[in-house]
Amino acid sequence: MTRSTQWWQDAIFYQVYPRSFSDSNGDGVGDLAGITERLGYLELLGVDALWLSPVTVSPMADHGYDVADPRDIDPLFGTVGDLDALISEAHSRDIRVTMDLVPNHTSNQHPWFRAALAAAPGSPERARYIFRDGRGPDGAEPPNNWPSVFGGPAWHRVTEADGTPGQWYLHLFAPEQPDLNWENDEVFADLAKTLRFWLDRGVDGFRIDVAHGMAKPAGLPDMDITHNELLINDDDDLRFNNPGVHAIHRRIRSVMDEYPGRVTVGEVWVRDNERFAEYVRPDELHLGFNFRLAEAHWDASDIQEAVDNSLLAVESVGGVATWTLSNHDVEREVTRYGTEAGASREVGLRRARAMILVELALPGTVFLYNGSELGLPNVDLPDDALQDPVWERSGHTERGRDGCRVPIPWEGSAPPYGFSTTPDTWLPMPDDWADLTAEAELEDLDSTLTLYREAIELRKTRPEFAGAAIEWYGAPPECLAFRRVGGRLSCVLNASAEPVALPGGEVLLSSAPLIDGKLPADAAAWLA
Ligand code: BGC
Repeated sequence: MTRSTQWWQDAIFYQVYPRSFSDSNGDGVGDLAGITERLGYLELLGVDALWLSPVTVSPMADHGYDVADPRDIDPLFGTVGDLDALISEAHSRDIRVTMDLVPNHTSNQHPWFRAALAAAPGSPERARYIFRDGRGPDGAEPPNNWPSVFGGPAWHRVTEADGTPGQWYLHLFAPEQPDLNWENDEVFADLAKTLRFWLDRGVDGFRIDVAHGMAKPAGLPDMDITHNELLINDDDDLRFNNPGVHAIHRRIRSVMDEYPGRVTVGEVWVRDNERFAEYVRPDELHLGFNFRLAEAHWDASDIQEAVDNSLLAVESVGGVATWTLSNHDVEREVTRYGTEAGASREVGLRRARAMILVELALPGTVFLYNGSELGLPNVDLPDDALQDPVWERSGHTERGRDGCRVPIPWEGSAPPYGFSTTPDTWLPMPDDWADLTAEAELEDLDSTLTLYREAIELRKTRPEFAGAAIEWYGAPPECLAFRRVGGRLSCVLNASAEPVALPGGEVLLSSAPLIDGKLPADAAAWLA
């Protein structure tokens, strides 16, 4: 199956976590004007598009993924005018702007949910969410045994208008994030309004949150609870990936098709390749996040398998592969690779640098998470700094995702490193990041930022990166080597403990200096 060429098919997206990117008004939280001020940096980096994590109105129970008004900007981040300015400034630099869209749930402060609480059981207001009577003689047991992804039960019991304990509502995430009832046509009608609202303002597309959610199984049966880790996919999990979700994606696509050149990328935590492929059929999502590379351990065969699987996952429907090493929900790659047996943060950084060359050598769409280009590690935050709802919901057993969301260091030698004018940033910044600021790394030819810039530049300009397929070729043990079938770029990764000889060809770039012409351990190289 062939599809027409679109800008996003080999684009490099850069995920901005707005709270943590750049604070223009000194309140310790990043904002839209802050992002606009930093566009020159993003242009220099060479990215094609931004994905902004949610900036719409939210009480911030889950830092924006609890949306109270999907068609307005939260004052914490600025105004709709600030977004307009960001879009037009980004477009003038040839950078596209995509937004997060959260269709699975709203905030409990959304006017619909407030109306649902005020209305009676069985009312049209309640029918926009998933309200049920409880089990047991007095309805005191939740309607089924589903756990919330953030810990605790996925149901919350409400108090009815007359003060008596009443129905329960479903929240797959925090109680402040009630799930919408996607069998109710009002829900799609409202989402269509939201899509058009932003598309009409020039937004280039959407990252769709929990795109494998939305549809729920008939009768909401109990599930087998094997594990309930945050966003770990298990294809037997009844809460997600129900077949009804595809009709919803087709409806979203029909709106998107009114706006040629715009794109949707869904967060699809589905392991089975055939079922994953269903999401990127020609009339559903344009792209689906594939998280296998982010899940792969520092092991050549694990990485090779992740690459093969990601390519295979879209092959049957002629879709485009996507690649990501991290995002705002997972531990940063420097820390992941640096905490595997026998490794250190320094080794973690070497491996992260190697993996960006693997990722950028692959055909398809790449998603970078802000700060990865600086080689930032996760931060061990003190208990009293933690903000992720996961920390409270898990009864302080899961520390949550704050460690990968610490603000970006821009310049200077001490917190807040130019991120803000107040040292009182929403998450504290570490004292030892002076060498990791954008300013320091821009000037350093050996920095991770320089490596990213060079790699992105080569990927964009060299003919070796042509072609949609790769082929593997023989590599020493614990190494991998593949070649782009069209342009014949070679990428070699050394995950062994010893330097290895490289095949013939011009070395375009390596993640660490070669040793007597050999590729050292924990490194990767590109050859023409
Ligand atoms: C987002 C998370 C968010 C959750 C609930 C996701 O998968 O990426 O950050 O907490 O959806 O909206």
